[in-house]
Amino acid sequence: MRRSCPTLRRCSGSGVRWVLLPARHVGRHGLQAHDMGDSLGIVRILNLTPENSRAVEQAAMLLVDGFRDTGSISWSNLEEALSDVRESFQPGRISRVAVDEAGNVQGWIGGMEEYSGNVWELHPLVVRRDCRRQGVGRALVLDFERQVAQRGGHTILLGTDDENCRTSVGGVDLYPGVLAKAQALENLRQHPFEFYQKAGFEVVGIIPDANGFGKPDILMAKRISSQGERSA
Ligand SMILES: CC(C)(COP(=O)(O)OP(=O)(O)OC[C@H]1O[C@@H](n2cnc3c(N)ncnc32)[C@H](O)[C@@H]1OP(=O)(O)O)[C@@H](O)C(=O)NCCC(=O)NCCS
Repeated sequence: MRRSCPTLRRCSGSGVRWVLLPARHVGRHGLQAHDMGDSLGIVRILNLTPENSRAVEQAAMLLVDGFRDTGSISWSNLEEALSDVRESFQPGRISRVAVDEAGNVQGWIGGMEEYSGNVWELHPLVVRRDCRRQGVGRALVLDFERQVAQRGGHTILLGTDDENCRTSVGGVDLYPGVLAKAQALENLRQHPFEFYQKAGFEVVGIIPDANGFGKPDILMAKRISSQGERSA
């Protein structure tokens, strides 16, 4: 990782994390402190629960809006998105939101246990459009890593689809030589695999045509604890 991690301070026993976003993001895109209010550079990350109906609805709205330009047919309406948000409350899941001081959701991250808890799949992750490139996504991933580590997991796996030719592996026939093409992966138009690379994830595979011809799923993983650190 090229930059130092955001400072994390955990409130005692509440599962709530206050995250000070990296100072380098402050003032980006012409925004000054007075434009963004007192919450500038600080988010709170906490469990998303069914009782917090406002946050549940806001998380669902983020899904609908956040993926509309990715070529995905998922979450095309609020009902579908709400159903997926509610699924995240099941056992064996992680569901965390980043909220501002007014309690408004800036981003949502979810995940589920796989391979007897050794591996956790990160899915989904979305940051509100007006909050992007300010460190919120990175803070959510870092918090997710800690959540998984606390549960004894040691690997995070995710699939990041390319459904609208934003990488060198989109819109092409990947056979033969699928793995060679995965190794030569290039970002053409702001595909999020690079965001995950910056968070320490590696490309570990690719599923050709996962979402239709020429629309692969790029698999990425990160080890979050060594074997010796793994709790029994
Ligand atoms: C991908 C996403 C979660 C990133 O969230 P974010 O809050 O904007 O990310 P951050 O500000 O924490 O970025 C961390 C780093 O990744 C980089 N980054 C973020 N998005 C990127 C992208 N699409 N392409 C390349 N780099 C990206 C940032 O520039 C920053 O780099 P730096 O450390 O060198 O400054 C957000 O853009 C999003 O919600 N996208 C739509 C939904 C989506 O694609 N989710 C992922 C599906 S697998």
